[in-house]
Amino acid sequence: MKYIDLDKTKGFETLWTLRDEKGDLNDFKVHLSGELVKQRNVPLAEPSAEAEGIASSMRGSPPGGLVYNWAARALDDDVVNALQALSDEQELIAKYRALLEGEVMNTGEGRKVLHHLLRSTDGKAHTGKAVIHEGRDLGDFYRKELERFSAFAEKVRAGEIVPAPGKRYTAFAQIGIGGSDLGPRALSIALENWAAGEGRKALRAEFISNVDPDDASRITSSLPLDETLFVLVSKSGTTQETLTNELFVKDKLKKAGLDPAKHMAAVTSETSPLAHNPVYLDSFYFDDFIGGRYSSSSAVGGVILSLAYGSDVFRDFLAGAAAADKAALETDIRKNASLLDALIGVWERNFFLYPYTAILPYSQALARFPAHLQQLDMESNGKRVNRDGEPIRYPTGPVVFGEPGTNGQHSFYQLLHQGTDIVPLQFIGFRQSQRKDDAVIDGSTSQAKLKANLAAQITAFANGKSDAVGSKDFPGGRPSSLIYGDRLTPRTLGALLAHYENKVMFQGFIWNVNSFDQEGVQLGKVLAKKVLTKTGGTSGDPVLDAYSGLLGV
Ligand code: F6P
Repeated sequence: MKYIDLDKTKGFETLWTLRDEKGDLNDFKVHLSGELVKQRNVPLAEPSAEAEGIASSMRGSPPGGLVYNWAARALDDDVVNALQALSDEQELIAKYRALLEGEVMNTGEGRKVLHHLLRSTDGKAHTGKAVIHEGRDLGDFYRKELERFSAFAEKVRAGEIVPAPGKRYTAFAQIGIGGSDLGPRALSIALENWAAGEGRKALRAEFISNVDPDDASRITSSLPLDETLFVLVSKSGTTQETLTNELFVKDKLKKAGLDPAKHMAAVTSETSPLAHNPVYLDSFYFDDFIGGRYSSSSAVGGVILSLAYGSDVFRDFLAGAAAADKAALETDIRKNASLLDALIGVWERNFFLYPYTAILPYSQALARFPAHLQQLDMESNGKRVNRDGEPIRYPTGPVVFGEPGTNGQHSFYQLLHQGTDIVPLQFIGFRQSQRKDDAVIDGSTSQAKLKANLAAQITAFANGKSDAVGSKDFPGGRPSSLIYGDRLTPRTLGALLAHYENKVMFQGFIWNVNSFDQEGVQLGKVLAKKVLTKTGGTSGDPVLDAYSGLLGV
């Protein structure tokens, strides 16, 4: 397998030529039609047999599944063919297969990248191969941990593990930051209304992440501490914010006359300083082959989701993710949603030079999903050297931001419609609400209003509207895609998460960067430590001293 920088590929040259020749492919008044909207649909995953059985009113999409619609993206068949050739030239599927089977893809840290293996049902890679490291079957290890924390969660939910005689755990709070917070928090919020709509027993789940004492104080003071189980999550076991919050919480527990050992479980890597410590009620493990921002499918997301919603819900989420992972093995880009999404993103980033992209879910359940994708995408592909550490000469990962619609419409959409930058948009929407609790007001339900707004925005961004008054003129030509389906459930949520993880992975392969390290977060950590450990009133860095002086530290 060859690893080549994007600008050294034949595809790069071909795509630049097409970009020059084709002109305004984002003149959607010419290029976008109702017919194209019906045609350009790719399932994120084949729907499961179980999901097939669910009655559905879906048109043009498989029941129970999610679909990627790319009609309003600025590319024609010639460009798609060139992207297919680039995908083949960069051996994207071969690289994905190698990653699945345990090749060292995190070159900087010399590590395998195995988050897909967490979702395997038989403990083997999605290609069918076992992943063995130093004689150990890692699929087996991940499955055993899944079994262990599932059983633990079920016992807690059933009242078989209790904080004290006659008491039960009624609330959970995860302490963690970055990948140990953002994904699990986004997923937990995403399932809250679904659980209510299904009439499932859902227990309260909170999250403490920031080292800002107001975060831990607000959460701990709102919880029934005697009935709360804190889940301390840190892969490294060394993160300042998380260790500080652990002690903050333990102090609160002690002051409330409670034994912290009955109120705290740990999730960490086997080699971390937190591992195998009897001060926790129980501990669950993963390893260095699971990157923080890719760890939602491990105990990092699994413990809190299983405690709050039940272990079957978490397994359903994993099944949805596995289905999307398998769909991502397809070599034909027209049939592989995450691969196509990745290539279109590269087309826009490298050949139109758009520096931003927005994630716009028309679903309140996905309120924190954009925040998770910020880390997933920007920490993975915000790189200026290739996987061998050599500088690269083309743009890599875009700036990612987002908010749920319709809230975003009343905030930053002004710039998206009429600003000087074109921002490619990634919409997500569902036909049904999660709670199914709706009201007809002025002749339509709230869900109908939400969906009408989504369809309206895609069309407005694409086609615009001419007006002689400059401030009222909408230029259009603003590309977008839409991921849509019936309803956000654990299974579709899993597929949605895997879609983005796989998209980011494919883009990393195209740009030839290491998407699995994050050296760019280190310098700030070192300087913060310098401030906190300064001797004789100085850190030795006058600028650092001046800024910390302004803040009184
Ligand atoms: O500082 C960045 C980072 O290393 C992320 O990559 C990671 O998700 C987060 O910190 C938390 O790390 P840990 O789980 O080791 O506490």
